[in-house]
Amino acid sequence: MFAPANIALCKYWGKRDEELNLPLTSSLSVSLGALGTHTTLSLDPAGDTIILNDHPLPAQSRFALSATRYLDLFRPTPQTFFRLRTRNTVPTAAGVASSASGFAALALALNDLFEWDLGRRDLSILARLGSGSACRSVYDGFVEWHAGSEANGMDSCAEPMTETWPDLRLGLIHVSTTPKDIGSRSAMRQTRETSALYESWPRKVAQDIDLVKDAIRCGDFERFGRVAESNALAMHAIALAAWPPILFWLPESVAVMRRIWAQRAGGLEVYFTMDAGPNVKLLFRAKDTARVEAAFPGVEITAPFPDRAPPG
Ligand code: DP6
Repeated sequence: MFAPANIALCKYWGKRDEELNLPLTSSLSVSLGALGTHTTLSLDPAGDTIILNDHPLPAQSRFALSATRYLDLFRPTPQTFFRLRTRNTVPTAAGVASSASGFAALALALNDLFEWDLGRRDLSILARLGSGSACRSVYDGFVEWHAGSEANGMDSCAEPMTETWPDLRLGLIHVSTTPKDIGSRSAMRQTRETSALYESWPRKVAQDIDLVKDAIRCGDFERFGRVAESNALAMHAIALAAWPPILFWLPESVAVMRRIWAQRAGGLEVYFTMDAGPNVKLLFRAKDTARVEAAFPGVEITAPFPDRAPPG
């Protein structure tokens, strides 16, 4: 089973329920086509076996613990064990989280193994229990995660948009692989609980989602890029206003941002987004690929709509 990674254009930042990963706001992402996670799952009478990128993992490793904790939710009996083999096609150095595609692929694999025959909407709810952003990874293309309002989360699920953008390109700029000081889970909590700016966030995301959807429908790339960049900067700003302050950027992240702004001032239509880490993701169109490659050596380019791209 395969699920693509996704990058949020309007971010999920803050939960109303930490157990069920229920968000305070809706969010909107674009999936990364062929970049994601392949997972196969079978029953194993001997105990849980977790294999990541062809390496069997010790049970106490972070990945194995989070996978087995998720599988605990679905064991028909305490003696049911799994053999989980998972492989990421997201380049590990690219700074794109593989947890979203990982939990989405695992939800699809569970559905297949137990023959639940669930639809994508329900699978997005199951994926969300592993990691919030995973609920968006059960679909390709542009995906909105509706925050929902029910306490049990049954209305908090993802929905794909029908619109595509074949010439949209994402450029992954790898700044650092050093582990972060703080994971997104605790950073979200800390922001929500202590940042004086947090109260402005729900209104900002709601407006940005409307603007980005409209820009997608009209093919207005300038507005699309501007709103996505502004949304990411707002998320980082409210995190910075938390206490203790949360700053995901490294000096190189800021240098890349300045280079993007300089390129834009020079007429290149390139924008960026950033998640809970120092790496920068460029947003641009296929026609500007050569200029982007020249301005950002080493950038890793991906097409979110590969199958639908026109030939040539
Ligand atoms: C900045 O989905 O990783 O990437 O629900 O706690 O697992 P948990 O958080 P996670 O957070 C993603 C945060 C983000 C924004 C986004 O993807 O919308």
